[in-house]
Amino acid sequence: MCSNTLSKAELVTAISLTAGAAAVSVLVYKTFFSTNKSSKSKVNLDLQKDNPKVVHAFDIEDLGDKAVYCRCWRSKKFPFCDGAHAKHNEETGDNVGPLIIKRKEA
Ligand code: FES
Repeated sequence: MCSNTLSKAELVTAISLTAGAAAVSVLVYKTFFSTNKSSKSKVNLDLQKDNPKVVHAFDIEDLGDKAVYCRCWRSKKFPFCDGAHAKHNEETGDNVGPLIIKRKEA
């Protein structure tokens, strides 16, 4: 004899499997497809956090013979490099360094 109704145990099993599949789907989606910016790490940890965008501009004529700019965002003299990238690299295994702009020797 075949019954078209589910027993309580079958219903609980079906609901559990459906909920489990939904939870796995959400985790896969969040891991691979989510664009939620808050789940990604930030480069700027503490510089000018009240500004929507940190921007520095210099006139080329004012650079002098050499200028060394921070690219790790850890310098206390930002936007200039103060060597803080060395500690950052040591602690994280990263390999960032400064941008050096210098005048060609004539
Ligand atoms: S301190 Fe940031 S690149 Fe040197």
